[in-house]
Amino acid sequence: MAPVKVLIVPGSNRSASLNVKLAGHIARQLALLGADATRISLADYPMPIYDGDYEAANGIPDPTRKLIAQFKAHDAVIIVSPEYNGSIPPLLKNAIDWMSRDGVAPFRGRVYGLAAASPSYRGGLRVMIALRHCLEFALGALIIPEQFMLPFADKAFDADGALTDEQHIKSLNAMLTGLIERATLLRRP
Ligand SMILES: Cc1cc2nc3c(=O)[nH]c(=O)nc-3n(C[C@H](O)[C@H](O)[C@H](O)COP(=O)(O)O)c2cc1C
Repeated sequence: MAPVKVLIVPGSNRSASLNVKLAGHIARQLALLGADATRISLADYPMPIYDGDYEAANGIPDPTRKLIAQFKAHDAVIIVSPEYNGSIPPLLKNAIDWMSRDGVAPFRGRVYGLAAASPSYRGGLRVMIALRHCLEFALGALIIPEQFMLPFADKAFDADGALTDEQHIKSLNAMLTGLIERATLLRRP
C-alpha cells in the first residue's frame, strides 16, 4: 500500500513561529514513520478577510481553490496552530471559512490531527478545543482523540529544531501513529 499522505498546515506565518518549528519537527517524524508528509505555509495562499459582498462579486479566490485541492490530495491533515485569546488565529480561521464556501469535502473526506505550541504554560489546549468545534461539529471532519500540546515551546527545541523532552516526544508520537493508523483504516475498500 502507498504511504499515507499527510498535509501539515501551520496556523502561523511568523518568521520565528514556534508552530512552524513544530510543524518542521512533525514532518521529519512522519517521514521516519513511513508517511508521505507535505508541509505548506498559508503565506502561499493569500486571501482577503471573508466578506459576503466580495464573494458575490468575485467568487471563491484562486488561492482558496488551490488550498482546497491540497487538502483533497491528502489522506490526513495535521493543523499546528497557535492560540490567540483562547481561540483560532484569524489567518487559519479565515482560510477555513473561505474553504467551507466550496462545501465540506476537504473536511469530511479525511482524518485530522491537532497540535499546538505556545510559549506559555497553557500550551494551546483551548485552540485545539476551538478547532474541534469548528472542524468537527460544523464541518464534519474526523479528528482523532490524541492531540499534541507544547507548553513553554520557546524552550522545547534543540538547535536543530527537534523536541528534547521524552514526554513530549512520546505524546507527539502517539498522535502521529494514531493518525496514520486511522488514515490507513479509512483507505481500505
Ligand atoms: C493576539 C494574540 C493573542 C494571544 N493569545 C494567546 C492565548 O490565548 N494563549 C496562549 O497560550 N498564547 C497566546 N498568545 C501568544 C502566542 O502563543 C505566541 O505569540 C506564539 O508564539 C504565537 O505562535 P507562533 O510562534 O507560532 O507565531 C497570543 C498572541 C497574540 C499575538
